Amino acid sequence: MTEVVICVGSSCHLKGARRVVEGLTKLVTERGLTENVKLSGSFCMGRCEEAGVSVKVNGEIHFVDPDQIKEFFDNVIVGGNR
Ligand code: FES
Repeated sequence: MTEVVICVGSSCHLKGARRVVEGLTKLVTERGLTENVKLSGSFCMGRCEEAGVSVKVNGEIHFVDPDQIKEFFDNVIVGGNR
């Protein structure tokens, strides 16, 4: 099980956290990975100064561009799941 926690604090919200949540939810469903990937939200992770939306994958923090969700999903979430 890969645990994915998306920051939905106000700064990440402004950077497109909602699109990240929606995009990842859609990809997880499309790929039939609902049993393998657990998505949840969290308050500010204290990394507001970074360029992207803060997303933790199995405890490791990444900064995600809402326009690059598919790449992030394939490289980090699916890639790290192998
Ligand atoms: S609001 Fe996301 S890191 Fe601060």
